[in-house]
Amino acid sequence: MASRLGLFGLFLAVVLDVTAAVTFTVPQQAHTGTYKYAPLDPAPVGISFEFFAFPSYFTNVTATNQCLSNWKDLTGVWPPIRIGGTTQDRAQYDSATSAYVVYSVSNPADAPASLTFGSKFLTLAGSYAGSVVVGLNRGKNNIQNTISAAKIAVSEVKNLLAIELGNEPEYYSRNGQPIASGSWSPAIDAASQNNWDISVGSAVNKKPIIQAGNSNDSPPTWGAAELIATENSTVKQYVQTYAHHNYPGGTVTSLMSHKGISSNLHVFDADVAAALREGKPYVFGETNSVSGGGAAGVSPTFGAGLWTMDYVLRASYSNISRTYFHHGTVGNCQYCFWGRYSMGAPYYGAYAATALLAKASYLTALDDGTTNYAAYVSFGSDGKPLRALLYNSDYFSGSGTRSSQSFVLQGLTGTSLKAKRVTADSAMSRVDQGGVVTFGGQKFTDGDCKISGTEAVETLTVSNGQVTATIKASEALLVYFQ
Ligand SMILES: *[C@@H]1O[C@H](CO)[C@@H](O)[C@H](O)[C@H]1NC(C)=O
Ligand SMILES: *[C@@H]1O[C@H](CO)[C@@H](O)[C@H](O)[C@H]1NC(C)=O
Ligand SMILES: *[C@@H]1O[C@H](CO)[C@@H](O)[C@H](O)[C@H]1NC(C)=O
Repeated sequence: MASRLGLFGLFLAVVLDVTAAVTFTVPQQAHTGTYKYAPLDPAPVGISFEFFAFPSYFTNVTATNQCLSNWKDLTGVWPPIRIGGTTQDRAQYDSATSAYVVYSVSNPADAPASLTFGSKFLTLAGSYAGSVVVGLNRGKNNIQNTISAAKIAVSEVKNLLAIELGNEPEYYSRNGQPIASGSWSPAIDAASQNNWDISVGSAVNKKPIIQAGNSNDSPPTWGAAELIATENSTVKQYVQTYAHHNYPGGTVTSLMSHKGISSNLHVFDADVAAALREGKPYVFGETNSVSGGGAAGVSPTFGAGLWTMDYVLRASYSNISRTYFHHGTVGNCQYCFWGRYSMGAPYYGAYAATALLAKASYLTALDDGTTNYAAYVSFGSDGKPLRALLYNSDYFSGSGTRSSQSFVLQGLTGTSLKAKRVTADSAMSRVDQGGVVTFGGQKFTDGDCKISGTEAVETLTVSNGQVTATIKASEALLVYFQ
């Protein structure tokens, strides 16, 4: 009889796809218990715009302003932006042009092989109300031109946070950049960066002003710790931040896996620690799902949206102050959060992460990053918990049965909690192909990024200080404690 019951239980478990609940205790005060707490930037979720495409995004893509202001509505501050990328090292400043940018391409889907930009480009950057990082050219080895541009950046960009001197220098040799025409290595690049930091920084008479590093290869090689070891105190005075780029790549399943995200971020631990030892922030200056504009079958999916959400939260938890998600050629950008005509599913993930972090001072992760199930808690400046975000990163392709996972939160007070779900039909849902992705039942309208639809708020009952939330495979839930 016992064995028949056991078999029956097993049968039920298979049919209902019941798995054991994962249980987390919510600290009622930041900096208590055995958890690690990361101090938060006021707006950790940022956007990077490819250098040549930046004016188009701000003058000719209606959704841009609204998509950014939706986050400001949550956090109270405009999200940080960075202007740069491969075309920053193809761009030269032209004091004579009245245009933002001047270039020609044979196909509008292409990025230009060379371009010039005028002071109007920097005036436009200065019209943005959030913090701005401007990436300038080092590859062409024309420091006078870069200094001229840096002076305009300092005078025109009122919220200028930092200037980058070169983008992904490890590829300079391969790309035929003049500065690497002799030999090129991490040590030669570091010496070059250090000299440029001092020359440009002293020419604009500002310290700290440089966002240093900006490489993409996985550290330790080309990383912040390696660079810092070459810097003397004169160079360090000019460095505002250390930045690295990151494009994890992979399939939708591997990309969105919480375990995968957590281990990807551990690659940066030593570099983050090295920057923090200098008392400087460490940021992802340029990042997104898959390099080269994204992968068509991966980057536009809801699974990539869930990656975006979990990735920026894990990065923030790992003391990476800001994460700038890259946006490339308008109309040819698989990972973009928005375009002229359509929203991208990743915007929803970034929105949910911003909603968790809004007006928070600290973030902790309740999980250790070794399973597919994540739980984060944000805290206000008074140390009281604000919200939790629970993520079930099991992959659901859209066919077969969708499993679910119970998350139990313990240590709670009160009688009920409100929650908003981040969901779609499957991890493969794409907004640009008619898929429906929602946050709290609401959508962002194609073309203008306005929030639409009726808000759907769920109620979770607290009993004996705990709640149980059921989260389907490839779904997340934002729980409000206040
Ligand atoms: C604005 O976008 C349209 C495509 O919708 C394009 O034809 C036009 O050239 C763009 N204008 C500028 C100034 O970039
Ligand atoms: C610091 O390093 C720079 C090159 O990176 C060099 O030009 C400068 O002389 C050094 N300063 C001191 C005080 O050693
Ligand atoms: C992040 O930095 C804080 C100190 O500001 C530290 O207590 C915490 O352990 C760090 N987090 C991680 C994951 O190392």
